[in-house]
Amino acid sequence: MSTSYQVTDGVAVISLDNPPVNGLGHGTRAGVVDGLNKAQADAGVQAVVIIGSGKVFCGGADIREFGSPSAFAAPDLQSVIDALEGSSKPVVAAIHGVVMGGGLELALGCHYRVVSPGTQVALPEVNLGLVPGAGGTQRLPRVLGVETALQMITTGMSVLSDKLIKTPGQKLFDRLVDGDLLSSAIAFAKDVAAIRPLPCVRQLSVAAPAEADVFTKARADLAKTRRHLEAPQHCVDCVEAATRLDLDAGIRFEREVFVKLIASDQARALQHAFFGERAASKIPDVPADTPLRKVDKVAVIGAGTMGGGIAMCFLNAGVPVVLLEMKQEAIDRGVGIIRKNYEAQVSKGKLAQDKYEARMALLSTTLDYAAIAQADMVIEAVFEDLGVKSTVFKKLDEVMKPGAILASNTSTLDVDKIAEVTQRPGDVVGLHFFSPANVMRLLEVVRSKHTAKDVMATVMQVAKKIKKIAVVSGVCDGFIGNRMFEQYTRQAFFLVEEGATVQQVDQAAEKFGFAMGPFRVGDLAGNDIGFAIRKRRYLEKPEVRYSKVGDAICELGRFGQKVGKGWYDYEVGKREPVPSAEVQAAIDKVRADKGVTARAISDEEIVARLVLSMVNEGAHILQEGIANRASDLDMVYLSGYGFPVWRGGPMLYADMLGLPKVVETMQQFKQNPHDDAAFWEPAPLLVKLAAEGKTFN
Ligand SMILES: NC(=O)c1ccc[n+]([C@@H]2O[C@H](COP(=O)([O-])OP(=O)(O)OC[C@H]3O[C@@H](n4cnc5c(N)ncnc54)[C@H](O)[C@@H]3O)[C@@H](O)[C@H]2O)c1
Repeated sequence: MSTSYQVTDGVAVISLDNPPVNGLGHGTRAGVVDGLNKAQADAGVQAVVIIGSGKVFCGGADIREFGSPSAFAAPDLQSVIDALEGSSKPVVAAIHGVVMGGGLELALGCHYRVVSPGTQVALPEVNLGLVPGAGGTQRLPRVLGVETALQMITTGMSVLSDKLIKTPGQKLFDRLVDGDLLSSAIAFAKDVAAIRPLPCVRQLSVAAPAEADVFTKARADLAKTRRHLEAPQHCVDCVEAATRLDLDAGIRFEREVFVKLIASDQARALQHAFFGERAASKIPDVPADTPLRKVDKVAVIGAGTMGGGIAMCFLNAGVPVVLLEMKQEAIDRGVGIIRKNYEAQVSKGKLAQDKYEARMALLSTTLDYAAIAQADMVIEAVFEDLGVKSTVFKKLDEVMKPGAILASNTSTLDVDKIAEVTQRPGDVVGLHFFSPANVMRLLEVVRSKHTAKDVMATVMQVAKKIKKIAVVSGVCDGFIGNRMFEQYTRQAFFLVEEGATVQQVDQAAEKFGFAMGPFRVGDLAGNDIGFAIRKRRYLEKPEVRYSKVGDAICELGRFGQKVGKGWYDYEVGKREPVPSAEVQAAIDKVRADKGVTARAISDEEIVARLVLSMVNEGAHILQEGIANRASDLDMVYLSGYGFPVWRGGPMLYADMLGLPKVVETMQQFKQNPHDDAAFWEPAPLLVKLAAEGKTFN
């Protein structure tokens, strides 16, 4: 039993006791019913209180039970709620901390609800590709009205109890309790013990929405804001059903939708993303109880684009930062940009003035290494040059206190080599932030062969503190993200060389769900970066086949939005891409020089080549042990590269396509004389999994 039962002063108290969030696993569900039965049978009990032990009331389903038989073992949540509603003695939910998903549905089955201020209230099922499955879509509109319920259910966002209790006419909470929740709930239960009939959400009708077309509008808005996603639309259907069906019929409707969605590809993908995020923080050979180093004070070297953004990540988390530069002008410029970023947030009402000031007060600057010596962690973000970085790391080795973590934000350099310039290579690690560093959620943690386990454990913890999704990568060219992305871009180039247009490739990728197609991404990030890398890399490896279309547009100075022209033209001050005749002519010339005859290419082929190129590279990455698990590759793509979350990432996409089909498709691509046949040789791991009927995930 994951509950406890106790009678105090004629009130039975059932405590949900299933850490960390009192998830409604089988033991908790059975415990509630058991407690209710005891209370019914005990003549000395007048009323029942259900409360959560620890920091929260209930976070919903027990995610550890997902997919196991006990998830379906009786009593299911619906019958627990039926038992609560049917209780002859009043049941009071005493709610604090968090009441989410099934936890909120359970509370809605109680006769009364008292709540602590600051409680987060949500039905987040939509984020897992589902609708709430135990009456949430039917009962929430009855207590909060259609508009508020619709907003909460379709976004999954949590709202604070203090705010909800102010909703006009709300019937969700009977009382806001400041002070000791349990004693107040017991006192409340005694006050209401004799009142009959017992109030019940089931008996409430749904008030007609203020605007008749609320559902039509919601559907249209969600089609834009949550494009491609099925679950939000189904949430609207369910809430609408609550306005026209009685509660039992509404619950049957909701159940049918729930059952359909739980077997859907989108739900599978979104749940994969949810669990993938949790899995990514675990490193197989670094035990969970590895002692952590203290990180209370951070230094950042270099106040450029990345250094400034990285500093902001720590300031936002309340960690003091010292920013070191070579010249005062560079400091002034860097700090000026940080200020400007914060001030923009303040003027948009996203950051309170006092919070902004508190963050800036945590920031100090210096030109002198002596001033950073006592920092617990230092992150280097200077120019991408091994010589410059080596000089910096030698200096850090000289001055930093023993045990300080020395991190580099390099995007391409060998972290092993950087570590080796110091006398303490075990303290060195790569922390590859993505630009803008204060916004992007992805952080690749680059583990060198020298990095100590406690350094790994500590930086994973630090990543959590600064709200990043950290994914561990071994040392290799491009790490996980850029190494796979390079293949994707290479395919985009081959595709236009063979006859697709730039717009067609981008549109096909965007229709598939990418936030932006590869050419628009290039124009945004700057085409010169890849150009410089290709010049360096392909000089070293002349045998590598690639299309020269990217070089051709860079030779025309078309570096992207920053110069007003790239794969597209841009009008001054605008970001709208306009197809370019100059680009098309350059592509036509590359094609003619190579003797390729343009052919019509289908959107299906475009998407398959773009995505499967990442899958094949991903399989090599896994096989080489650069990544710990396939879902880590998916997390990189979902959190850092705009891969559609509802497809779960490239590796899950391949799994869902079926690996034998993936292998077969790659074999076909190998036959294309204008592509890189050697690249399309399916990775041995992929071939093996396909042959064994297995999947990546
Ligand atoms: N820009 C990106 O999108 C991006 C993304 C991920 C990683 N990175 C990596 O981050 C690092 C920094 O890139 P950036 O875009 O911020 O460059 P940047 O040119 O904007 O900033 C570099 C800063 O470092 C300072 N600097 C140079 N040498 C120094 C030294 N010896 N001591 C102190 N300060 C020094 C410079 O004055 C400059 O302000 C590079 O390694 C880059 O590869 C960049």
